[in-house]
Amino acid sequence: MVDAACKVNIGWSVGGVRPDGYHDVAGTIQTISLLDTLRISTGCADAGHMCVEVEGAQVSLQVEPADFEALANEDNLVLRAAREVATLAAPLPTSIRLHKSIPVAAGLGGGSADAAAALVGLCVAWGVDLEPGRLESLAVGLGSDVLPILLGGLVHVSGRGERVRSIGSATDGWFVLGISRSQLSTPEVYRALDDLGPDPCHGDQPRLLHTNDLEAAALSLCPDTGDGVAAMSEAGAPVVFVSGSGPAVVGVTASEAEARQVASRASGAFSRVVVAQPVPWGVRLRLGAAPAT
Ligand code: C5P
Repeated sequence: MVDAACKVNIGWSVGGVRPDGYHDVAGTIQTISLLDTLRISTGCADAGHMCVEVEGAQVSLQVEPADFEALANEDNLVLRAAREVATLAAPLPTSIRLHKSIPVAAGLGGGSADAAAALVGLCVAWGVDLEPGRLESLAVGLGSDVLPILLGGLVHVSGRGERVRSIGSATDGWFVLGISRSQLSTPEVYRALDDLGPDPCHGDQPRLLHTNDLEAAALSLCPDTGDGVAAMSEAGAPVVFVSGSGPAVVGVTASEAEARQVASRASGAFSRVVVAQPVPWGVRLRLGAAPAT
C-alpha cells in the first residue's frame, strides 16, 4: 500500500512565460496529512475495471469512492506513471486500486500525489531498483508538482517545478482546508494570471501571509473562493491563503484544538473542511499492509 500526501503552497511567485509555455515559478510546498491511498497487486489485472495494456502487461485501475469513478480513465496520472515505470522494468499484470480523499482540481496536487505514489509503488511491485535520482526525470515529465511531492516535506520549488530543494518539514502548525464544490483548471488559472497582467489588485484587506500570485487569478475565475477566504479568516485562522491554483482555501493555526474550532466555525462556507498536519514525506510505502480484497 502506498500513501500519497497532498500539498499546500506556502508562497507561490509566478514569473514570465518560458519558451516551453510554462511559467517560471518560485515558492515552497509543504506536504500535509490529507492522503490518497494506492493498493497495488501484481499477478493479474482486475478485468472488472478499466484496463490498459502497458508494454504487453494488463494494468487495471479502480478509483473509489464512487464520486471519483470518472477518474478511472487512460489519462489518469497513475496510468501515465505506469507507462513511465515500464521504461525501467518489464511490467507485470497489475491491479491498482486508488482510494481518493484529496479533492480534484483544488490546488492541492492530488493527481500529482497519486502519480508520485504510483511511481514508487510500481517500481517496488515490478522490481525496479529505487536508486536515488532514478525517478526524478520521470516525475518531472508527469507534471510540475510530481517531483516536489515525491520529495515531500517542505520543499523549495523553482524553474517550472523541476528544480527542488528540500528544506526539512514544518513540524508544528495545523492546516484547515476549506474545500468547495468548484474546481479550477491549473492551465486556466495561469492563463487568467497572464490576462490580469503584472501587479494584480489583491483587494484592500491585508492578511498576514499573502504571497500566492495565482490567488488573484483563481478569485477572478471562481469568485466564491473570496467568500471562503473571508469565512476562514472570520472563523479565527490567523493565516489564510488559497493553495496553488485553488480553489482550496487554507487556514493555518498553532494547535489542533484551534484548528478544530476554526474548522467547525468555517464549515458552513465549504462543502468539506479537513484538519491536517504537516508530514515530512509525500509518498509513504506501507509494505505488509493488508492486500486488496
Ligand atoms: O505541469 P502540469 O501539467 O501540472 O501543469 C499544468 C499546466 O499549468 C501547464 O500546462 C501550464 O499551463 C500551467 N503551468 C505553468 N507553469 C508552471 C506550471 C504549470 O504555466 N510552472
